[in-house]
Formats: sequence, C-alpha cells, structure tokens
Amino acid sequence: MCGIVGYIGPQAAVPVVISGLRKLEYRGYDSAGIAKINPDSGTFEIERAVGKLINLERKLSDADHTPHQRLNIAMGHTRWATHGSVTERNAHPHVSMSGRIAIVQNGIVENFLELKHELQAEGVVFTSETDTEVIVQLVEKFIHGGCDFEKAVHMTLAQLRGSSAVVLLNLAEPGTMIAARLGNAGGVVVGLGDGEVLVASDVPGVLECTRKVIFLDSHEVVVAKVGDVKVRRLNGDRVQKEVHTIAWDPVAAEKGEYRHFMQKEIFEQARAITDTIRGRVDFEQGIVTLEGMKPGPTPRKIFSIGMGTSSISTMIGKFMIENLARVPVEVDYASEFRYRDPLITPNDVVLGITQSGETADTLAAMQEGREKGAKIWAIVNAIGSQAQRVADGNITMRSGPEISVASTKAFTTSVVDQYLLACWLAQQNANGSTAEAQHLAISDLMHLPGLVSIMLEKNNIYDELANIFHTREHFLFLGRGINYPVALEGALKMKEISYIHAEGYPAGEMKHGPIALIDENMPVVCICVRDNVYEKMVSQIEQVRARHGTVIAIATEGDTDISKKADHVIYVPEAPAMLSPVLTAIPMQRLAYHMALRRGCDVDQPRNLAKSVTVE
Ligand code: F6R
Repeated sequence: MCGIVGYIGPQAAVPVVISGLRKLEYRGYDSAGIAKINPDSGTFEIERAVGKLINLERKLSDADHTPHQRLNIAMGHTRWATHGSVTERNAHPHVSMSGRIAIVQNGIVENFLELKHELQAEGVVFTSETDTEVIVQLVEKFIHGGCDFEKAVHMTLAQLRGSSAVVLLNLAEPGTMIAARLGNAGGVVVGLGDGEVLVASDVPGVLECTRKVIFLDSHEVVVAKVGDVKVRRLNGDRVQKEVHTIAWDPVAAEKGEYRHFMQKEIFEQARAITDTIRGRVDFEQGIVTLEGMKPGPTPRKIFSIGMGTSSISTMIGKFMIENLARVPVEVDYASEFRYRDPLITPNDVVLGITQSGETADTLAAMQEGREKGAKIWAIVNAIGSQAQRVADGNITMRSGPEISVASTKAFTTSVVDQYLLACWLAQQNANGSTAEAQHLAISDLMHLPGLVSIMLEKNNIYDELANIFHTREHFLFLGRGINYPVALEGALKMKEISYIHAEGYPAGEMKHGPIALIDENMPVVCICVRDNVYEKMVSQIEQVRARHGTVIAIATEGDTDISKKADHVIYVPEAPAMLSPVLTAIPMQRLAYHMALRRGCDVDQPRNLAKSVTVE
C-alpha cells in the first residue's frame, strides 16, 4: 500500500517520478504528492493533492517538466491512508521542522505516538497527523545532534516499531537519496539506470528507465547516488546485493489500446497461460520441470495460504494437488492461519500464493510455517518480491505486471501453476496418481491456452447482461466441487469493482439458508459445466427458478438443455474437469467488468482498495 518513487539523474525528475507513480497508483490513490529539490533556491518544491495522481499532475507547472542541471532530484508518493485522514496536510512528502529533510513512507510506525510526544516535549512542531512525520523529525534531530545523513537515518530506524519503507532527501546532500526497508511493509526496488538511479516500491515504477534492479531486504538501508549505490544493514554491515535484470517489457505496464488495465489483463490470459506452461512441460515425455523447485521428499501435508483472490486460488489448487499428487492440502486465509496455532510439522510445506509477493498477512503466515520448521514454497507474480525471496522453492506466475487492483490474470495463472505443481509432485510421489493419469493430466494442459482464447473471443453477452442487471443490489454465485471457489471469485470481483453486494456459496449449501434470499430481484449465477456434479447443479437451478430467481448459467458449449432452464447462458468450451475453473473464471471477470462499466465505477481503482496490502 502506498507507492513511492524517487529519482536522481539528468532527466527532468518530476515527469520521471510522475510516470513511475502512475505505474504504482494501484497501491493507493487517496492522495499524491511530490518533492523536488530546486538547485537554484536550495529548497524543496512540494506539491500535494487529495485524490488521484491526476489531481497532482494538474497542479504541476511547465517548469516542473524542464531539467535544471546535470542532476535532477525528486521523489513522490501515492497514498493509501492509515494514520491521519485523507487531507492535503496528511499527503506525503512530509518535511522536518527546518524544511531541510523530506520523506515519503509506505507502512506504519506502531510507536509513533510515543515518539511524537517525546519530540513535542523537546519543542518539535508537527504539521500533520501522520506517523511518517515522526520519522523525518527524528532524522533532523539526529543530524542536529551531529550525525551525518546516513547515520541519522540508521539511528532513527532503530527507534521505530512496525513495518516501513521510506525514501528521504536532504537539502544538504542534494545528490543523495536514502531509502530503507523495515519489515514487510512493502518492497524497495533500486533501479540502476545509465547515469541515473531510482527507487520505487515495485518494479513497474522504475521500468521506464531501467531493467537493472536490486531489491532491499528488511533492515537494509541504501544510500543511492548516481554511479554509487551502497547498501548496509541497520547494524552498519555492508551488504553486496545481487543485481537482477527484469525481463518484463515496460510496455507490459501500459494500457495500450485498452480502456482499462483490467480489460487488458483479462484479454492477456491466453498469452499469460501459454507463458506459464512454456518450457516447463515436456508433452512427449509427460514431464513437468519447475525451475525454482528442488526435488525432495513428498510433504506430509501442504498448508496453502493466501488472501482474497489468491486465497480462492488455493481452494482450487487443493483439488488439483490432492487428486493428482495424493498429498493432503489444508487451505486457510493467511490472516487466520497463524492465530489458530496450526499443527505444522517439519515434514510439511507452507505454500503461499501471492501476486504481489508483499501481502503482509501472507508473509506473516509463511514466517509462521518457517518458525514451526516447515518448508516454505511460494507461487508469486512479482519478481524479486519478499515472498519469492524468503521461500525455499518458488514458482512464478509469468503473468507480467498486473496493474488493475482487481486480480484477473494472476488468478488464472496461479491456478495453472498449482496444476503444474500437482503434476510435479505426482512425478515424485510413489503414492501419487498412476503414470497414465499423470500423462493424461499433462497432455490436458496442451489445449488450455486455445480454450482460453475461445472464451475471450465471445463478446456480446456481457454488455447485454450488464444492461439488464446493472441496477440490482444483490447477486448470488453458486458452484460446486472445483467450481465452488470460482463462485466465490465471481462474488468477490462483483463486489470489489461494481459495489454490488454479492455472495458466493457452495450450491448444496443454498437450501440451508441463502435460499431465503431468492425472489424475482435476485440474479443467481450458477456454474453448471458438464462434470461429476452437473446434475446436482441442474437441480439447484430448478430450485432457484421455483422461487422466481433469475438464473445466469455458465454451461458447457453444446448443452442446449440448460438454455431451457436458465434465463441466460454463457457457454464455455468443453474442458477437462480439473482445468475448467480457468475457463469458468473468465465469465466472472468479464461480467463484473461490464457491470462496473455500466454503473460508471472506477474499474481499475475501486474505492477503498489497494493492490498490495502491506499492512495487517
Ligand atoms: C481481488 C484482489 C485481492 C488480492 C489480495 C491478495 O481482486 O486482487 O483480493 O488477491 O489482496 O493479494 P496478493 O495476491 O498480492 O497477495
């Protein structure tokens, strides 16, 4: 949550920072702000605005777009408010009392009130309600006490409790930017450009200037100057960081011809799934190879954890892993996992699924597994993220950057990754499914990208459905078996981007309560593809119809019986049962997208949400 970008280099710094922030706006959009050093006056020029980045951009002048001299320096922030209401006064950057040090922060300082009172007692005057201002005031205090800039930052960070990522500028050292990471509040990526250096919360924030990056770990501080980037741990030890080259194309983080990132990301799914499979599957031999995983003993049990859409993905993976690899899987919300004292043994694996690789609850649950002696695996999209780095084994989603707050392509690719993991585990488990079953499972993957493309070619029905249903207040989504989690995902997508109240239920549970909700105003989306629970789903449809509910069925192509029972039908191509969620998820995404469009909602940046939830 909160996006940070800092820049030192020959380009006009403000446009570079704004462009980086635009790529990170999914992290928060309550307010935005920017600070640049004016080398002529030797002061900070700060602009801040409530609301989206566009409001800040409107306040910037032409002068902000012109480079000053050889070195131009600025840093900016998009905020997801935690401490202090959404006002311009609380928008970052914040400056110290003398106006000589500036800061942007992502995270929470848990002991900020205590520190604030101490500073106030010493005469420091605060201008905002934020926890962030405490950090910058403390840095100034240590500089007054005789520390140099770097030492003052180290001394300050040592006093903070909580998780934070910060960037600081000091007018006395205009060629230096200091950034640090404390805990799991969010990443700090340092971009090493040609004659320029950047810091950002996430890779897309630097991609326009460079693909060469280093990732800070917790308790590391970087002192970044052009051509001179040094990282130390908080205890002062120097750290040699590996320089990674990011394969993502900067264009992948652009909207291109699409109206919204979500729309683009939905339509990228055939490509993303092809990439996810590519090079990992030998269809002839029937073998899966996963580059980030080391073969070892079959786990006694896998605890699969995630949040939101990633948590729903674990529920589908459970079917795949249990069925193909015959390894028991327990799924849990990461936020609940460590508060129930899970019975983990050293023979178990905790598998974290996370698009961003920075979700605080997921990282904490992985840590819980580590402390209890389990192996840690991760399925992650963001390369170099904390989840990827702390895991003993990892599989990348290969979705490319996902910018829209509502997750789409990371959902389907994480499902495919779990299918690959299931096949990989089956290969090694003497008690796994038979060799023929494994071969069949692998060959089933071959046609998946083509089936996804077919799903994406069908266009008209979503507009039509949005026209009919956009004024409804409630929606029910029902599924069974491996498609029950897809019903949950349908409801989640609908809620988060169109603000319609929606519930996902296992269809068999409906008659135990939710059926009371059904009347002529209740649209019910029923996932009713031809599989082992098809007939049970058909009878569910009958029950909804008998209570005058309107049925939107997701059915297998060619199933003409359904059209006689349901009011509307969205057909999906016939697919192997275990892979069907990849196809049935697409109508969920597209229906929610069209409903949000029709209701005039902000599709890519829905209210109150942020993409990387780096606070608990
Ligand atoms: C919903 C959505 C969220 C995320 C959740 C976990 O569309 O995007 O529910 O899935 O916040 O995020 P990651 O996967 O980054 O851990």
